[in-house]
Amino acid sequence: MSTTSIDSLLHEIRRFAPDPAFSAAAVAQPELYDRARADRLGFWAEQARALDWTTPFTETLDWSNPPVARWFGDGALNVAYNCLDRHVEAGNGDRVAIHWEGEPGDSRSITYAELTREVKKAANVLAGLGVGQGDRVAIYLPLIPEAVIAMLAVARLGAIHSVIFGGFSAESIRARVEDADAKLVITADGGWRKGKVFPLKHAVDTALAAAETSVEHVLVVRRGENDVEWDDARDLWWHEQMASASEEHEAQGFEAENPLFILYTSGTTGKPKGILHTSGGYLTQAAYTHRAVFDLKPETDVYWCTADVGWITGHSYVVYGPLANGATQVLYEGTPETPHPGRWWEIIEKYKVSIFYTAPTAIRSFMKAGREIPLAHDLSSLRLLGSVGEPINPEAWVWYREIIGGGTTPIVDTWWQTETGAIMISALPGVTTTKPGSAQVPIPGISVDVLDEDGSHVGLDSGGLLVVTEPWPSMLRGIWGDPERFAETYWSKFADAPNGPLYFAGDGAHLDVDGDVWLLGRVDDVMNVSGHRLSTMEIESALVSHPIVAEAAVVGASDETTGQAVVAYVILRSKKAKSVTAAEASQMLRAHVAEQIGAIARPREVFIVTELPKTRSGKIMRRLLRDIAEGREIGDTTTLTDTTVVTVIRETSR
Ligand code: PRX
Repeated sequence: MSTTSIDSLLHEIRRFAPDPAFSAAAVAQPELYDRARADRLGFWAEQARALDWTTPFTETLDWSNPPVARWFGDGALNVAYNCLDRHVEAGNGDRVAIHWEGEPGDSRSITYAELTREVKKAANVLAGLGVGQGDRVAIYLPLIPEAVIAMLAVARLGAIHSVIFGGFSAESIRARVEDADAKLVITADGGWRKGKVFPLKHAVDTALAAAETSVEHVLVVRRGENDVEWDDARDLWWHEQMASASEEHEAQGFEAENPLFILYTSGTTGKPKGILHTSGGYLTQAAYTHRAVFDLKPETDVYWCTADVGWITGHSYVVYGPLANGATQVLYEGTPETPHPGRWWEIIEKYKVSIFYTAPTAIRSFMKAGREIPLAHDLSSLRLLGSVGEPINPEAWVWYREIIGGGTTPIVDTWWQTETGAIMISALPGVTTTKPGSAQVPIPGISVDVLDEDGSHVGLDSGGLLVVTEPWPSMLRGIWGDPERFAETYWSKFADAPNGPLYFAGDGAHLDVDGDVWLLGRVDDVMNVSGHRLSTMEIESALVSHPIVAEAAVVGASDETTGQAVVAYVILRSKKAKSVTAAEASQMLRAHVAEQIGAIARPREVFIVTELPKTRSGKIMRRLLRDIAEGREIGDTTTLTDTTVVTVIRETSR
C-alpha cells in the first residue's frame, strides 16, 4: 500500500457502536474475551467440545516440539459426520443446507438429509476406487454442489483433498497433482462463467498427459455438457458411479491430527506451497469463528459467502464452518455481473440472505458501477456483512454499510490467511465498536502482536510486523513434503521468543492508540490481486519460460478496483524477439502468463524495457519499479548501479 493511502487510513475517525438490540441477542458476548484470557486452552477445549468426538480428547495442546503443534491429539472424530449426519440425527434433516444457483438460472435446494445421502454415496464411490485414509484426491470443479459433496466424501474416508481453483491452468494442475501425488482427480466436463461454458476436463487431460503421477482415475461430473475426450481405462462419469452406489456409509473416527486437506498458495518463491491442515483443531476454529463472528442463528439465518471452494475462504466459510454449524447457505456458480449487473442482489432478494461475506475488490467494483444497481433490489433481509481477503478502504467500508447494509448492519472485517485456516482478527458483531478500515482485535482465544524487526513490541500508534504469539487450533501443520520450508518461512524470523517461536504472517500492521490492528498489506514478495494471493517470483518464472524473454521483474502496483495489479517489466532476447513489436510482445506475454498460471495472474501491463534497475549486488529493485508503476516520485536510488536506467524505464512505460 502506498504511503499516502496508509496516511488516509490512519486518519479515519468514524466509529460505529453496536446497536443495543443486536447486542442483546448476539451469539458473541463480551465475557468471551475474559473467559479466553483467563484460561486460553480451556476456552479452546470448550469450543472443541461443541463437535462430536468418537473418542473424546484429554489433552488440548501439545507444543513441546515447536513448530509442530498437536491439538486435541488423543481425540478422534469424523469431520464429515460433524458437518452432516449429526444434524440429521438431531432432527434437522429437512433444513436446507445449500440453496444452489447455477449461472444460467437453474437452481437446486438440498437439505441436510439429502446432502448426507449424497456424501455417503460419494464416499462409497471413492472407496470403491481405492481411496482410503491418507490418500490424496485432487478436486477441480466449478462451484456446484458436487464440489462440496466431493470434499466431504474425501473427508469422510479420512483421505486428503487438494482443491484446485477452476480458473487455474493445466500447468498449475500438473504441478499440484504431482506435488501431492494424487491418486484420483475429480473434475467436470465444464462449468458456466460469464454466460459461456468453460472446459475443465480438457485442462485435466492436458495436465495428466504431462505429469509424472500416479493418478488412477478421473471422475467427471456432467455440468457444462460440452464435448470431452474420453480415456476408457481411466475416466468415469460421476453420475453413473453415483447411480449404483449404496446410500449406507458409516463414518469412522480418525485421530484429530489426521490430515484433512492440502491447499496450495503462493509464497515468495516460484513454487506454490501446499498448506496442510488437519481435522479436529481446524474444524473447531472454523465452526467457532463462523458462529461468533457471523452471529449465526442456524434456525433462521440464510448465509452467503461468495468465495469459490478453490480458496481457503471457500474451505472454511462455505464448506466446513457453515456445515459444521448446520447453517443454511447460498452457493452461486457464476460471476456477479451475469447475465446482468444486479445478479448478486437478485440472489440476496430471492433467498432472503441475512449474512453476507465477500471481498473488498467486489465491493469496489460495485461502487464503480453505481448504487442504483443494488438499490433496485430488496436487501432488507441483510443483518450482517463481512469482508475478507485484503485491506478494505474506509470509503468502501462505509459504502458497503450504507448501500448494501441499509445503514444499519454491523460489518466484520476479518483478517486471516490460508495458513491460519480460520479467522484470527475481527470485530465481534454486537460487541465491538467498529472502525472502517481496521480489522481491529484478535478474536477470543487468539493472541497477536506487532513487532519491529528486532522482535520488540512496537507500542501504540506505531507500525511493524504482524505476528501470532500463541499456537491456535486451525493453524497450518506444515507445507506438504517440505518441513524445512515450513519452519523457515513462518517460524524462523522470531524464533527466540521466550515461549517458543512466533508465527510471522508476512503482513505489515499498525497499532492505533486504542491498540486496534490496521492491516497494511504484505511485506514480502506476495501480491494481493482481487483478494487472491500471487507471488512475484511465480509470475516472473512464467514470463522467463517464454522463449522471447531474457529477464523479467514483476511488482504489485496499487489498483483502484483490484487492490493491487500485476505489472511486469521485461527484457526481450534480441534475436528471438526480432520480428515482434513491443506491443505484440506485451500482448503475447500477458496471454502466456494466463496460460501458465491462470487468468487471475494475467499482468495488467507488461512493459518492454532494455534494462532493469539493480543494486550493486545484483538484486532487482522492485520498490523502484513499483514507484514507477504507481506514477510516484522515485525513492532512494543510492544503491542503484546505473541511475539512468530508471529514467529510461519511466520513458518507455509512459
Ligand atoms: O495480506 C493479508 C490479506 O490476505 C493474505 C492472505 O491471503 P490468503 O491466504 O489468500 O487468504 C485470503 C483469505 C483469508 C493476508 O496475509 N488479508 C486477508 N484478509 C485481510 C487481509 N488484509 C487486510 N485485511 C483483511 N481483512
